[in-house]
Amino acid sequence: MRHGRFEEAMSTLLRDYGQSVSFDWRLYRHDILGSIAHARALMKAGFLTGEEFAAIETGLKTIGEEITAGTFAFSVDLEDIHMNIEKELTNRIGDAGAKLHTARSRNDQVATDIRLYLRDEISSLQDGVRGLQDALVGLASENESVLIPGYTHLQRAQPVPLAHHLLAYVEMLHRDHGRLADTALRMDELPLGSGALAASTLLLDREAIAKELGFSRVTQNSLDGVSDRDFALELLSALAILGMHLSRLSEDVVLWTTAEFGFARLSDRHSTGSSLMPQKKNPDIAELTRGKTGRLYGNLFRLLTVLKGLPMAYNRDLQEDKEAVFDSVDTAKMALAVTAEMMSALIINKETATTSASDPALLATDLADELVRKNIPFRKAHDLVGKLAAESAKTGIPLDRLPKEFIQEICPELSGEWEGLFDPIRSLKARAATGGPSPENVAKRLAHWKKVLA
Ligand code: ARG
Repeated sequence: MRHGRFEEAMSTLLRDYGQSVSFDWRLYRHDILGSIAHARALMKAGFLTGEEFAAIETGLKTIGEEITAGTFAFSVDLEDIHMNIEKELTNRIGDAGAKLHTARSRNDQVATDIRLYLRDEISSLQDGVRGLQDALVGLASENESVLIPGYTHLQRAQPVPLAHHLLAYVEMLHRDHGRLADTALRMDELPLGSGALAASTLLLDREAIAKELGFSRVTQNSLDGVSDRDFALELLSALAILGMHLSRLSEDVVLWTTAEFGFARLSDRHSTGSSLMPQKKNPDIAELTRGKTGRLYGNLFRLLTVLKGLPMAYNRDLQEDKEAVFDSVDTAKMALAVTAEMMSALIINKETATTSASDPALLATDLADELVRKNIPFRKAHDLVGKLAAESAKTGIPLDRLPKEFIQEICPELSGEWEGLFDPIRSLKARAATGGPSPENVAKRLAHWKKVLA
């Protein structure tokens, strides 16, 4: 790169500061695929002979195999993965290798590589999302009859099936899956052919390159083609939202496995001990996932910040996109896999859960609904039941066991059927609107997800 224009060698500090091969080496497979497609287009346009193309293709494939095998020696002097591969190819095959970079810049090359790389990663992230959904559906199925208190403000509110709670996450994850799919759709255009910024005077068939690499379209503006990283931001944003979902689920696991909640226990395989306190069994997986969400958010802001002040078109700042994207992809993949394992092995304490869900106070809303059925305006019904709840809180007598006379005085409409009103299953059966937690709805939704995931 420097032979023509420079007299002095690069400062080693700048070399170490600027090198990206220590992390962008992992684009090698996609870099090689892109180079082969580019070389084929060069051949078709008459810039390479058939023999030269064949030497390039074979040479690149061999280099790819060596990188996979771990026998390829990368050099930081060659800055990045693109130069490392191209230089080695030229060392091996001579002039044909030196022709590979015709009508191409590392700017459109790297923009192509990352898209190709992320296309594969998105599909494996989507598999990870499906895997976690599967674990949650499995856990929900095994515990279909278990109830827990549902919460608002982390105060017990109304009973819900545990399965309904778990399926809430399955819905969230389905949206995450959709966001990943959307990201892949918009990423599906080939920037190669944009050159450094203004395309090239040497014309290649971009559509054919796109086809070979499996892109549906080519980019329509060369300046945009080399400087756009919206697709990376979209992915980082989808992964930040996914991380938020995983973090909320993790928080539930942390709460459920406390002595205070006691709804679940972690399997030994998915819990950690304390170096000091012999009795401890800690939910570190869940805490780590909650904590690593910070990275997923951070990487999004990192790249947004890198991009915000860039003049058109390519600037070296763009090299900072890779570590952010790699870290988010790695973190999200691991978090999905480990959370799926942890949830599959989670042990539900059915008795504690059911006892907690049987707190009669959780059916206070049902009492008000009952009064509405007897033609009492809801606001008034709310008030009356509120008086009963206050009495229960004051005296410590559970709502269902308040003295008959007191019920008769405040709520004569309900006094006849009082005891029968405190059955959580009866309450749930009534909650049959679409999306509600009735056992029938939950069973249907479980069946739906099993079908989707099959
Ligand atoms: N390593 C560079 C990057 O990631 C490749 C492009 C270099 N282009 C340049 N004009 N220096 O962005």
